[in-house]
Amino acid sequence: MRCCFSAHLPALAALSALSALPGPCEVLRSGARLAPALLRTAAAVQRARSPHPDDLTAVNLELVTLTEDRAIITWYTGIPGTDDGLGHPLPAITEGEVVYGTHPARLNRVAAEDGPTAHHQVELTDLEPGQTYYYQARSRGVAATPTPLHLVRGNAVGTSAFGLGSRGGPYSFTTPQPPPGRHLLSVALCNDLHLGETTAGLVGGLPLLRGVPQQPGRAPYPEVMSRALVEEARRRGADLLLAGGDISAGGAARDLDEARRILDGFGTHGRDYFVVRGNHDRSPDGAFHTAFLDGRGPGYFAQDLGGLRVIGLDTYVKSGNGADSGGLGPEQLSWFRARLREQPDQPTLVFGHHPLTVRDSVFPVTRGQCLDRRQARAVLDAYASAPGVFLHHAGHTHRNKRTVLPRAPHVTQQEVAAAKEYPGGFTLLRIHSGGYALNHYKAGGLAARQWSERSRRVAAGLWPHHALGRSVSDRNSVTAHDLSGVARRG
Ligand SMILES: [Fe+2]
Repeated sequence: MRCCFSAHLPALAALSALSALPGPCEVLRSGARLAPALLRTAAAVQRARSPHPDDLTAVNLELVTLTEDRAIITWYTGIPGTDDGLGHPLPAITEGEVVYGTHPARLNRVAAEDGPTAHHQVELTDLEPGQTYYYQARSRGVAATPTPLHLVRGNAVGTSAFGLGSRGGPYSFTTPQPPPGRHLLSVALCNDLHLGETTAGLVGGLPLLRGVPQQPGRAPYPEVMSRALVEEARRRGADLLLAGGDISAGGAARDLDEARRILDGFGTHGRDYFVVRGNHDRSPDGAFHTAFLDGRGPGYFAQDLGGLRVIGLDTYVKSGNGADSGGLGPEQLSWFRARLREQPDQPTLVFGHHPLTVRDSVFPVTRGQCLDRRQARAVLDAYASAPGVFLHHAGHTHRNKRTVLPRAPHVTQQEVAAAKEYPGGFTLLRIHSGGYALNHYKAGGLAARQWSERSRRVAAGLWPHHALGRSVSDRNSVTAHDLSGVARRG
């Protein structure tokens, strides 16, 4: 099953018969940008295969989650000189610890894991808000090195460039202040579950850009990741869950029914969790409507949840092959504008599959990545006259990206990486009376971590450049906004 984002990769576009192909200039520009990175990646793979003085390699260090009082750090340990068939070293199961402190020469605190693993995750807790910390992640004395994001001049490990370029740090981050006011409720934002998909990042048969399947004998990865996401969202205190489209790989009834069973593990549909359709969920037999809407009604809605208005958009109300731009349909667009005009000041969260805009993409941006351009402009104009709207959650691009919309600067558009593959998780929105925080979490559990690590090899290993977020703030941010009209969830 072809991934919806990979349909926009230039290499695929050159081979496929999709309607929204990039132009020759876009392909050339993309080729010029990707070629050096491919060469560097090949060199890195070669280095990983060459004999190493240590018996352990510790790589792919990432500062995934950063809140005012905690940080979640992940990395992978492998056996140098081995290859799992995807250019990735075989797992080395060992201990892991993070040493840290408030001065780079005094890393006097230690956080360790419960037991040995190759897929390390250490959570630093009881951090001080607004404090700069320095840290180093180690396994058997070997310091972990960051996930390289040179293609996007990104930083996977800190909020400053401190330590970048060294072999293992220490690296540095500064915790934010918490959102102003008291905590009212938390909402898990997720998308792109792709139930039924069997190969991630399948790209037109090119040998360098081949897809990544699950390891033989393991459970289908969309199920593994979706179940882990639901568990982790509950564990992190989510009161609500919003699933923003591409629930299935191809709109098949069995896959949407399975998604329903998994999401029912979070709570009751229409009360605790809400779902909208993505381009992958379109199907002639209306399976999405059967699974989630009792076969009735439109796929868009507005719900008042104790003062918080949640508006779900169906961004593919049109005919098409799924690779063209998203569309709301005239009825939905006028309904949407009328809702905002009715209550322009009500705290409002909008979610839908296609983003309104795609900025700073490492791959060429085609019409297929966004909502129809004129409709996106109409939505933004409606936001400009509705100061209560504070967040637009989108999927489809399979990446973490925070964008403040210039036409409506009180609205943040948060693109969230796909649930079904690397980094594989969700973004937790914590609503306070005076603002909100957005924090990305990887789904927990060994099976999810294994697949997250394996699927970072999508797009010849370039996937992290796109999907993780080029900066910590693309997946972790705090914004002030008057949300005092929202009732506390109790
Ligand atoms: Fe998708």
